Amino acid sequence: ARLLLLHGPNLNLLGTREPEIYGATTLDEINREARRLCEDAGHQLETFQSNSEGALVDRVQAAREEGIAFIVINPAAYTHTSVALRDALAAVAIPFIELHLSNPHAREAFRHRSYLSDLARGVICGFGAHSYTLALQAALQQLAAAPQNP
Ligand code: DQA
Repeated sequence: ARLLLLHGPNLNLLGTREPEIYGATTLDEINREARRLCEDAGHQLETFQSNSEGALVDRVQAAREEGIAFIVINPAAYTHTSVALRDALAAVAIPFIELHLSNPHAREAFRHRSYLSDLARGVICGFGAHSYTLALQAALQQLAAAPQNP
């Protein structure tokens, strides 16, 4: 199957962005490791990062046409603001996992609310770059358990 890994705004700066919060791993390294995990399991991974809400909405909409079976998304700041991204994920009805490098619940109050979490299969946060590995492993497990994309 094909999976899609989506990265929201400012995640292109990973490696240099507030490393005390987000760590030293770059987005390229995260994408490479994620692709390896999926290919080892016999699946394909697409990756996409944008700083623009509309581009992320467009990418989610296109995922349905492409037959993407599962989405893993770090919505970054749009987690806390984007009804549009929520509506796009609801519209395409592709199962997804939300993830964060940091633990937003241990940070400012405005990070405690997510517009996506209640629609997600599950949420992983707080493990730095390892959050991506955990989220991909969970996605692969979900696909193995229900390959028909329920
Ligand atoms: C983040 C957490 C968000 O609150 C923040 O806006 C980000 C990154 C994370 O991965 O920890 O940009 O999603």
